Amino acid sequence: MQISFADPSLPASGTLIVTVTQDRVLGPAGREIDRATGGQVARAMAASRFTGKKDETLELLAPAGLTVARVLLIGLGKADAVAEAGFEALGGAVVASLGKSGETAAWISLEVPEGATVAPARAAAAAGLGATLRAYRFDRYRTTEKPEQKPSLERLTVLVPESGAAAKAFAALEPVIAGVTLARDLISEPPNKLTPVVLAGRCEDLAALGVEVDVLDEARMAELGMGALLGVAQGSVNPPRLVALKWRGDPGAADPRPLALVGKGVTFDSGGISIKPAAGMEDMKWDMAGAAVVIGALRALAGRKAKANVVGIVGLVENMPSGAAQRPGDVVTSASGKTIEVINTDAEGRLVLADALWYAQDTFKPRTVIDLATLTGAVIIALGHEQAGLFASEDGLADRLAAAGKAVGEPLWRLPMGEAYDKELNSDIADVKNVGSGRAGGSILGAQFLKRFVGDGPWAHIDIAGVAWGKKDTATVPKGGTGFGVRLLDRFVAETCEG
Ligand code: BES
Ligand code: MN
Ligand code: ZN
Repeated sequence: MQISFADPSLPASGTLIVTVTQDRVLGPAGREIDRATGGQVARAMAASRFTGKKDETLELLAPAGLTVARVLLIGLGKADAVAEAGFEALGGAVVASLGKSGETAAWISLEVPEGATVAPARAAAAAGLGATLRAYRFDRYRTTEKPEQKPSLERLTVLVPESGAAAKAFAALEPVIAGVTLARDLISEPPNKLTPVVLAGRCEDLAALGVEVDVLDEARMAELGMGALLGVAQGSVNPPRLVALKWRGDPGAADPRPLALVGKGVTFDSGGISIKPAAGMEDMKWDMAGAAVVIGALRALAGRKAKANVVGIVGLVENMPSGAAQRPGDVVTSASGKTIEVINTDAEGRLVLADALWYAQDTFKPRTVIDLATLTGAVIIALGHEQAGLFASEDGLADRLAAAGKAVGEPLWRLPMGEAYDKELNSDIADVKNVGSGRAGGSILGAQFLKRFVGDGPWAHIDIAGVAWGKKDTATVPKGGTGFGVRLLDRFVAETCEG
């Protein structure tokens, strides 16, 4: 779908979208359309339950007095509460309503209601962003879809004064859209197609944007002593990889230390010998979402030539049961030198991250480390699918991450850590064990385990198990891989590294 921007005018064909605020209030453009149709807009609203609440829609087919095929009314909610996110949702609602209607072209008559604070050009760009994100579709493995099952909408034009400024604002968002799209594509891929080696290859594609990409194979990881990551990988016929993506967008920075983003990339998590139940096991293809989000964030940053130094490190493995698989009871030695008793082979993400975190710190001496992982089912019990779990070594970092997440609609909720939790991980035979004794505080214990492999510097862990995959559509995120975290990290870098 192609997005463009133009100064306000009355389109001759296709669908015209008009926004309505709460209590059926039309703006100047809406009133003009109402007049042109001899009052049809007001009559249609009165004849229905449509009142202009957020995300409500009402379709008028073949409106009298106009040549367009339909007028689509979309509610913005209370006029003084409309923010940038409201315009993202508007763009998303347009795509959701017209996506498969057979319509090929639509025009949004964009009006910022009186009392709202967002500038028209930004609102228009946000509508374009929301529309593009909602129009995402992973259809690479569909071969028999009939044309009427495919999305029809090809062109969406946002009509707004200062359309040039809107086009510019939208162009600036294209890299982050590309980052989210890349993350969703990777998350959606089935596990037989996206093995660690294949995923490492997708990382190498970023070299075209100026990202320096190092791929470590098994032999190199063995030399570095990465027994924790390799222990997870040893049950699979698909060999592991560790990839470092280096973006040096600010070579003259006063502080040369980069921000390190570390991602869990388990391309399939069967649980290993501590095997998972069959029901829903297919979901574990997206156990690489943390890595996908890190790769997507680097795609966004490099795409917009962010003035920041950022490295992405992703640990890529498949967790399988086999005669070669690691056993509950095994003791492995991580690259940090610490030994780990593997009580449960299904707590594999933390083993992968132990070595990936060590590599990030030992190699790059970062000023801040942020890891993202679909680490625990327990975070879904705690927070559901609305917010990701946030753990941080310091309040300032937690606040900045939460603020970035809130700004882009990817909210984080901070959970506690502490010594009393940490004690749970003491092993009778090794330095640490990979699970506690029960199910209590599962997400916190996951974070405490990671903390044992992190130095004294600022560190945050984001558990995205509940938000990485959606089972239903939301305003700007169709069901499937969400890419949750890409926009957040892009915003965090813009505000804390570049600002
Ligand atoms: N990848 C899973 C966590 C997960 C569960 C992600 C559901 C998304 C949806 C992780 O590797 C795992 O299996 N964690 C275990 C930890 C337990 C053994 C301590 C869990 O959550 O059950
Ligand atoms: Mn697992
Ligand atoms: Zn896992």
